[in-house]
Amino acid sequence: MSHEITLEQLEADPHPVLAALRPIAWVPVLNGWLVTGREAALHVMRDAETFTVDDPRFSTGRVVGPSMLTRDGSEHARHRDPFAEPLRLAAVRERFAPVVRTEVDALIDGFERDGRAELRRSFAGPLAARVVAQLLGLETADAGEMLGWYDAIVASVTGVAEGKQPSEAGATAFESLRDTVEPELGSAAQLSSAEVVSNAAVMMFGGIETTEGMIVNLLYHLLTYVGGPVEPALYANAVEESLRLEPAAAVIDRYATRDVELAGAEIGKGDFVEISLAGANRDPAYFPDPNRFDVHRENARHQLAFAQGLVAGGTAATAKHFPGLGLATGNTDNGRIVIRAAASELRQGLLPFQSAIRAGVKLVMVSTAVYPKLDGSKRPAAFSSTIINGLLRKKLGFKGITVTDSLTAPAADRIPHTATKAMLAGSDLLIFGAESASEHGYSTLLGDEAGSARLRARLTIAAARIRALKAWLTEAGGPACTTP
Ligand code: HEM
Repeated sequence: MSHEITLEQLEADPHPVLAALRPIAWVPVLNGWLVTGREAALHVMRDAETFTVDDPRFSTGRVVGPSMLTRDGSEHARHRDPFAEPLRLAAVRERFAPVVRTEVDALIDGFERDGRAELRRSFAGPLAARVVAQLLGLETADAGEMLGWYDAIVASVTGVAEGKQPSEAGATAFESLRDTVEPELGSAAQLSSAEVVSNAAVMMFGGIETTEGMIVNLLYHLLTYVGGPVEPALYANAVEESLRLEPAAAVIDRYATRDVELAGAEIGKGDFVEISLAGANRDPAYFPDPNRFDVHRENARHQLAFAQGLVAGGTAATAKHFPGLGLATGNTDNGRIVIRAAASELRQGLLPFQSAIRAGVKLVMVSTAVYPKLDGSKRPAAFSSTIINGLLRKKLGFKGITVTDSLTAPAADRIPHTATKAMLAGSDLLIFGAESASEHGYSTLLGDEAGSARLRARLTIAAARIRALKAWLTEAGGPACTTP
């Protein structure tokens, strides 16, 4: 299963080579395995314990230091969390839609009179660079100088990936980037300022060429599309299909932490495993007639251009703790907490939930605190139909699953038949803190269900919602997912 292919072959027209290697092959010129089958690629991306990014050989890490890109598990979360909030879909739309419109207009004004333009250099590249500069607070930095650092860092990372040492020019560029970014970004709650700079470099490194490539590939695909002009209703699918056909980041790197068999290949502990997103995206077993750009392709959104994260691994995001714990004066794990704030103050706490619901969050965990101004009966939120059904579902329009882990919390101490009460109040998914509590809660719930048509109806609805979530999570490849 070893394949003597050359880097030139992979660079010129990689697709026939990738097809010949599918699903996985040892490629001596890469000194590693190349995974080109979609199933096998998903398997590698979903198993971070066996296929890690946390390896001293990881090229980006060697040039810009440890960052979210080179860490797994809780260390990954520590690096990523401070950057996640402003990069969520709703936040990006709000902050960047006007910026992007202004930049696009200004760039087009720049070449409109000429009647012609080279799209990559005069449009896509500068647009991507300007938006990432704004994201990092570098609006005032010299654009030419910034692109110079960028080129030097990219060249150094590429060299390392080819087996060379990190370059002097790359190190100098990173130092200049550090000097400019550090005063703008400072340190974050759980990161040192050096770590903040490394993550900022990853965004710069990961955000410019990818977006530039994606824009020009899409324009090329649309302009050469033989099916005629594409209707606006199909634009979103056309973006997915373009990313499928030519993912802007063609490969991602992992390292095996143990001996493992994958699609018939015997991978050894320590082996380098490169996933070809370009190859996986043209796997004919999943995408029929894979070399064709088809704006109508039904599963185009299952492309892997952004790799696959938690959703594909079976984990859905949960917004918590509704309707907000920001005004709490104590910990709900330690006692019954009453939040006496006025309704107007509490409304502020709803804003992140509104954004999450707009962005399609599937689960909301309800708080155990009591909010007298929202529910005069003074029930903890997790047991309050007024809060769950009235506020969360009716007012905010949430249609997903409500979760509570408060059945053994101090706030529930005096509530008999806690599981039944939570279910009747509108909780769909009940999490118990201990196995004994879970057994007890389960049998109480079953006992109560026998005598209550209302509870039976609630359980049926909750079970249907949970089944729908499971189907969504296991849907092959998960839904399209954006990075970061
Ligand atoms: C079409 C555009 C883009 C494509 C195709 C793309 C592709 C990717 C891929 C494949 C990964 C996964 C790497 C891995 O698992 O090893 C990734 C991660 C990442 N990308 Fe992008 N990217 C794009 C745009 C951006 C932009 C605009 C930014 C910054 C604003 C960005 C920042 C990041 C970061 C910070 C990570 C690391 C995420 C993490 O480890 O949690 N990317 N990107």
